[in-house]
Amino acid sequence: MTNFAIERAETRDIEVLNEIERECFAEQAFPKSFLKYLILYPHSIFLKAMIGGEIVGFIAGILQASHRVGRIYTLDVKPEFRRRGIASKLLQTLESEFKNRGIAFSVLEVEVTNTAAIGLYQKFGYRSVRVLKNYYGKNRNGLQMVKNLV
Ligand SMILES: CC(C)(COP(=O)(O)OP(=O)(O)OC[C@H]1O[C@@H](n2cnc3c(N)ncnc32)[C@H](O)[C@@H]1OP(=O)(O)O)[C@@H](O)C(=O)NCCC(=O)NCCS
Repeated sequence: MTNFAIERAETRDIEVLNEIERECFAEQAFPKSFLKYLILYPHSIFLKAMIGGEIVGFIAGILQASHRVGRIYTLDVKPEFRRRGIASKLLQTLESEFKNRGIAFSVLEVEVTNTAAIGLYQKFGYRSVRVLKNYYGKNRNGLQMVKNLV
């Protein structure tokens, strides 16, 4: 089992986070400006996974407290660090931060072909609630998945 730490991301991490986002999502990657927004926005939670001073993954979510919803925007683990439980720990930590702030539902979107991510979300109790046609571009459908946190 790899030893890693989960910490809050900071604006000085932006270049590395952007590189990882591009490595994980290629042309579907969020722009650097949006990652920066997710770090700075007061109602967001941006967590990074660290191994020996290196950022190896991250997760970001936004609190929509009036609806008691926490929306997960991105979850990335560098390819060479996958299948070591890093995404699981990032997801569990974000969910517990959501819960601590009164959030009842964790919501996310994932491409229907992304079996790794769907496997991860199902393992942690997310269920598919609807198909989002062409969400990721022409003929690239999304799945909206939800987990009840309370
Ligand atoms: C999806 C992703 C975040 C998983 O990260 P990870 O650190 O490898 O995940 P974990 O090691 O915590 O895996 C937890 C569980 O997820 C599922 N899973 C992860 N990768 C999988 C794969 N390639 N195939 C099938 N199931 C997979 C398994 O159930 C796994 O449990 P197990 O290892 O006990 O079988 C990573 O593959 C990634 O960054 N992919 C590119 C970006 C992406 O698609 N992000 C999600 C967008 S919604």
